[in-house]
Amino acid sequence: MKHQNSKGRALFRTRFGAVAATVGSAVGLGNIWRFPYEAGTHGGGAFLVCCLIFTFLLGIPVVCAEFIIGRGARSNAITAFDRLSHGARFWSVAGYLSVIGSILILGFYSVVAGWTAEYFFESLTGQLNLSSQQEFHAHFAEFCEGNWRPALWTLLFLAVNFAVLMRGVAKGIERISNILMPVLFVILLVFCVNSLTLEGASRGLRFLFKPDWSQLNAGTILAALGQSFFSLSLGIGCMITYASYFSDKANLVQNATVTAVLDSLVALLAGVIIFPAVFTFGVSPEAGPTLVFEVLPSIFAQLPGGMLWSILFFFLLTIASLTSTISMSEISIAFLTDHYKMKRTAATCLNTGIALVLGIACALSFGVLSDFTIAGKTLFNLLDYVASNIIMPLGGVLISVFVGWVIQRKYATDQLTNHGTLRSALAPVVLFSLRWIAPVAILLVFLRSIGLL
Ligand code: TRP
Repeated sequence: MKHQNSKGRALFRTRFGAVAATVGSAVGLGNIWRFPYEAGTHGGGAFLVCCLIFTFLLGIPVVCAEFIIGRGARSNAITAFDRLSHGARFWSVAGYLSVIGSILILGFYSVVAGWTAEYFFESLTGQLNLSSQQEFHAHFAEFCEGNWRPALWTLLFLAVNFAVLMRGVAKGIERISNILMPVLFVILLVFCVNSLTLEGASRGLRFLFKPDWSQLNAGTILAALGQSFFSLSLGIGCMITYASYFSDKANLVQNATVTAVLDSLVALLAGVIIFPAVFTFGVSPEAGPTLVFEVLPSIFAQLPGGMLWSILFFFLLTIASLTSTISMSEISIAFLTDHYKMKRTAATCLNTGIALVLGIACALSFGVLSDFTIAGKTLFNLLDYVASNIIMPLGGVLISVFVGWVIQRKYATDQLTNHGTLRSALAPVVLFSLRWIAPVAILLVFLRSIGLL
């Protein structure tokens, strides 16, 4: 079976595989860990509505823009900007921004991924057999401050990530996504059914679905834009890289829509799983980042078959994280193999090596390095802030301006319609948004978030 195009570029083998990998990138800790706690602290329904509006109005067009750049240039993000701008210096900066940003994200993301793997392991071996929320709180704090265990799990997680990436695009990334994504959806559905039978289900669902507009403020809107972009892996060249492996026949608008719909669905399902449980057991939905590590396990402990739920939940989080870290790593691996003609193994080693150094430093920033702060932020928070709040929105603006204004409209339309062989009513809408709506909206929200507006 051929999984290269005529120029020797690796390709995903099947349509299903391409979509599974893309959805695998999008669905991750952002949906299952971050969305519920952000929704919890930003008032539930109002936050959800903002996220959905951003995802459909700005998210889908920007995913399409990255697809146009990636499949058009058939290369990593840096070379792609370079090729399509005919070597304009300024635009390769956008490419470098994405490669650097993706490594920073990989650094802190693999720490949380490591936590989920540790919790999966602890559920399996019965060490998570605690009962009250206070006990879980103490347990999580002790684990995070314990230095060597979080560092070890970051390392183990990156080792698995490495093992998949080494095998390449079709045999590594595509194959694992084909298996893990269906498993992920099945587990989510099992949890939903259970959650809906809880006594607090209706209160939980009301919190999630009934917007309380009095909660709407600039902070909520900003958080929602950040969430939508993070969740769709946008603004950082991830979708550019994956699209460079799409076939010439792939329908870009359709792939973007399917990705956005499934990504939103997983976040919704995560909310449907978590909020009924939270309301049933009378805990506050505003717990923040520890919601999933302290509140949920204490709830599982009270359900019949508690440990089993815990095992299943942390397995779900671990696989969701893995398909995401794979996509983050591929951004720089594609760059190293295309640009420097490095062997895939060497590029994967380099990527993993840098991620390890950053990851372990971030893991320790909850322990020995907790007093080491830059601009008042620990390393973990600093990487998260710089990548999620600065590089990603900036990348989003640059990518939409690039496709909306810099490359020719015909080029973009040709990519979206596969040179006129596909009909797409959405293509003109997407291009309109990329010209007039996306860059302005993202820029405004970004300037506001860094305090310039
Ligand atoms: N979208 C993923 C999530 O929701 C995170 C992610 C995967 C990501 N690849 C990325 C974020 C690339 C930024 C860049 O968890």
